Amino acid sequence: MPASRRAWPLLLLLLLAGCSAGGNSSSIAAGRIAYEANCAKCHGDAATGEWGLPDTPVHGPKGHTWHHADGQLMEIILGTLNIPDRTMPSFESILTEVEVMGILEYIKTGWYQQQVEQQREVSANWEDLYPEK
Ligand code: HEC
Repeated sequence: MPASRRAWPLLLLLLLAGCSAGGNSSSIAAGRIAYEANCAKCHGDAATGEWGLPDTPVHGPKGHTWHHADGQLMEIILGTLNIPDRTMPSFESILTEVEVMGILEYIKTGWYQQQVEQQREVSANWEDLYPEK
């Protein structure tokens, strides 16, 4: 097979990954699977925190996650943001940014509409809020 034909599946994958960054149903479904596999054992149910470990933050409407910009959540999850006394494992070598965005899109399905909108605004202003980044 010529090299150009072999590259097609990869190109298609990249295209699909690009589309899913907006939070369509397939990225949410993938995010759910990745959440169940990597996060649920500590954080419990994404919306309620049920079955989670004690002293582990809840990602649903009653939690604090929705106060953070996407960019900051990405860094917290990948472990590139230095949090003192962090006990959560870093996912930098385990998950891609696209996979983390899928997880975030899945988590957001549990938030109230108002929280989704507020968090979207915070995310858009992320660079302004944290100019040192
Ligand atoms: C081993 C248990 C564990 C696993 C696995 C884990 N976390 Fe955490 N996570 C924690 C703890 C504990 C904290 C509180 C801060 C700390 O101690 O590091 C935290 C904090 C967070 C925060 C910041 C607090 C907030 O909600 O605003 C986010 C976001 C987060 N985790 C997302 C995730 C995601 C997404 C995954 C899966 C990819 C994951 N965590 C996997 C234990 C875990």
